Amino acid sequence: MKQYHIWTIGCQMNHADSIRIGSALEQTGYTFTENADEADVLILNTCSVRQRAEDSATGRLTSLVPLKRKKPDLVVAVTGCMVPPNEPGKAALYKRFPAVDLFFDTLDPQTLVERLPERSEQPLEFMPTQSIQSKVDVTAFMAVIYGCNYTCSYCIVPLRRGKELSRPVDEVVSHVKSYVRRGVREVTLLGQTIDAYGHDLPGRPDLADLFREVSQVEGLWRIRWLTSHPKMMSLKMIKSVAELPKVCNYFNLPVQAGDDAILRAMKRPYTVAFYEKLAATVRQYNPGCALSTDIIVGFPGEGDLQFQRTYDLLERTRFNEVHVAAYSPRPGTAAAEMEDNVPLEIKRERLQAIERLQEKIAQEYSAEFLRRTVEILVERKEKGRWYGRTTTNKSVFFDNPPLPEYEDFNWKGKLVDIEIEKTSAWSLQGRVAGTPSVPQPKPLQTFQPLNDRVPLTLISRA
Ligand code: SAH
Ligand code: SF4
Ligand code: F3S
Repeated sequence: MKQYHIWTIGCQMNHADSIRIGSALEQTGYTFTENADEADVLILNTCSVRQRAEDSATGRLTSLVPLKRKKPDLVVAVTGCMVPPNEPGKAALYKRFPAVDLFFDTLDPQTLVERLPERSEQPLEFMPTQSIQSKVDVTAFMAVIYGCNYTCSYCIVPLRRGKELSRPVDEVVSHVKSYVRRGVREVTLLGQTIDAYGHDLPGRPDLADLFREVSQVEGLWRIRWLTSHPKMMSLKMIKSVAELPKVCNYFNLPVQAGDDAILRAMKRPYTVAFYEKLAATVRQYNPGCALSTDIIVGFPGEGDLQFQRTYDLLERTRFNEVHVAAYSPRPGTAAAEMEDNVPLEIKRERLQAIERLQEKIAQEYSAEFLRRTVEILVERKEKGRWYGRTTTNKSVFFDNPPLPEYEDFNWKGKLVDIEIEKTSAWSLQGRVAGTPSVPQPKPLQTFQPLNDRVPLTLISRA
């Protein structure tokens, strides 16, 4: 039996794409191997969002040269955001990386399959696969809108992923059903601008309509979604999150910067005031929800004052999570024409300042959970402890209760109420509510719980 291996870096979208590619190969008769050295087909699913991501892919490609020499029949194929969706772009890559047999577009695994000796005559169906199912597990990622119609000046994604393309509602629903049949309990619906979902489909269904349809799937317990564009988020969507119990109360709304001039230069089509009003509306309709954001520091022209405004915005808004990155010029983008005039050292300082601020805020949010009971979906065992997340995306760890009936109990895939006994910035620990406590190796850390500034609502299911 021939084997394939996929190496994936980048965002969740890439991970979802790798599963589709794996599915195409499995329908052609290949099985997945964890071990790249054993593979007959080796696929690299790449990311270009920052220079570091691209360096990691080129490093991998260079290291494949000796393997390819040893195993001339090995097929090396590269996809993902390093591969431009046009022929001249691909031709340049073939020239640069002669060890690569094929550069193909992520949405086109057909080209890969046709390149293989055992090509399939059957039309390919993109359904979850058995052998990489272990990676899909209790939670799964699923792309529902591809591409991006925006042109943020720093961003390479639209150049590599093309225009927005939504998958029809019934296709998404049947894909979700097939995942649920294989034990998936939580899906994360993905798009670069997920709240733009459906505008290109007949009847123009929107994300709220999609939530409603996916919520009907029996056996599915949770729906997450990433990433929203502040300009596309509607009141209808915000309300639907509050109304639909399966839809997690977690909003990822990247703001990128807290200064209007920088936002303009980034070609983000909103102001800080607009964003703050949106964040307030999200919280008003979804009390206790988590709000996360993305920030770029060191964009061209970002002085101390502009950076301070971003910092202040984070202090005022008190996000539950912040993903911060140092600006990295991407060839072909509008910002790459600007002078990259913030020194690396300053970028690093600003990045760390934001990380420190966010750690403090995250610690305070976590402390509010102390002695409360939260519902988690158990995903896996990690270093001997069970791991799951709240609907608000907080990581929670717990042990099997010290009772004989729970000795070998398998919590995976179950919704469990956990009473929180210990908190830190990035995770919570507790015990199954209503059971005796597990003896703690160390005394409990005590935090001062904050006032109920953000009321915590727990979604309970009948
Ligand atoms: N579609 C999403 C995310 C796109 S890429 C959105 O609109 O927000 C994910 C994150 O990477 C972005 O939110 C941004 O913060 C960061 N990013 C994108 N391009 C970057 C660049 N050139 N340098 C540094 N960070 C970048
Ligand atoms: Fe990139 Fe902007 Fe599109 Fe997000 S919305 S993928 S940051 S161009
Ligand atoms: Fe990277 Fe492409 Fe995702 S650039 S972050 S893999 S959309």
